[in-house]
Amino acid sequence: MSFFHRKKTEVDFDHLPKHIGIIMDGNGRWAKRRGLPRSAGHARGAEKFKEITTFCGDIGISYVTVYAFSTENWNRPKAEVDALMRLLDEYLERAYDELRGKDVKVRVIGERHMLSDSLLQKIEALEKHTAHKKELTLNLAVSYGGRQEIVNAAKTLAEKAKNGEINPEDITEDTMSSLMYTAGQPDPDLIIRPSGEKRSSNFMVWQSAYSEYWFSNVMWPAFTKNDLLEAIHEYQKRQRRFGAL
Ligand code: FPP
Repeated sequence: MSFFHRKKTEVDFDHLPKHIGIIMDGNGRWAKRRGLPRSAGHARGAEKFKEITTFCGDIGISYVTVYAFSTENWNRPKAEVDALMRLLDEYLERAYDELRGKDVKVRVIGERHMLSDSLLQKIEALEKHTAHKKELTLNLAVSYGGRQEIVNAAKTLAEKAKNGEINPEDITEDTMSSLMYTAGQPDPDLIIRPSGEKRSSNFMVWQSAYSEYWFSNVMWPAFTKNDLLEAIHEYQKRQRRFGAL
């Protein structure tokens, strides 16, 4: 039996994580090791994003959030930022064909006002086009920062309190969750970070309070379906107690 099939038999497909977060890291290093420009790593990473998220849908994962571009990534050289925005643009253009017949809802989460008008229009059009889809919700975190997301929620609440629309004592964790970009979605059960780095880098700061992390040394462009199954299998072996005994 191949390694892939062995992993497939080990995974309990009746108890999959509902929501998987992926920090798609290591594109630059993957490219550099091959003597390629960093943009080639991102292009390969974007292909990998399609392959792995499609696979997530195929095996029955309901929510996937990928970290495609952080608020900090704006500080990278313009050429690299432009290359990443182009990849996003290409994805949005092709998504109509590639997602045809698939039950996939696409959402883009992050600081939208930082994006170009043309990108924004394409994002809004694709979100509208897929809004009624149900099986897999795919959140693309673009110009996303987890702390920024919490700051935005705090501002909204402060504004409401100032206007007498809300009593500060009534603010609960649910109130906060309802103000996150992921309102109405379950928190990520499993967060995957390849490339050997072991930190969350401002990804889903509020939502990841009880997430299980899975780290691997493989660079994102080299990540395989098998790696995903391995992460799920490892997750299923862990006991999640949410702080209780
Ligand atoms: C981190 O690797 C990765 C990014 C900053 C970008 C991730 C984006 C993609 C995979 C493409 C997204 C496209 C779509 C359509 C969603 P890094 O560049 O920091 O790698 P390094 O740590 O090896 O330098």
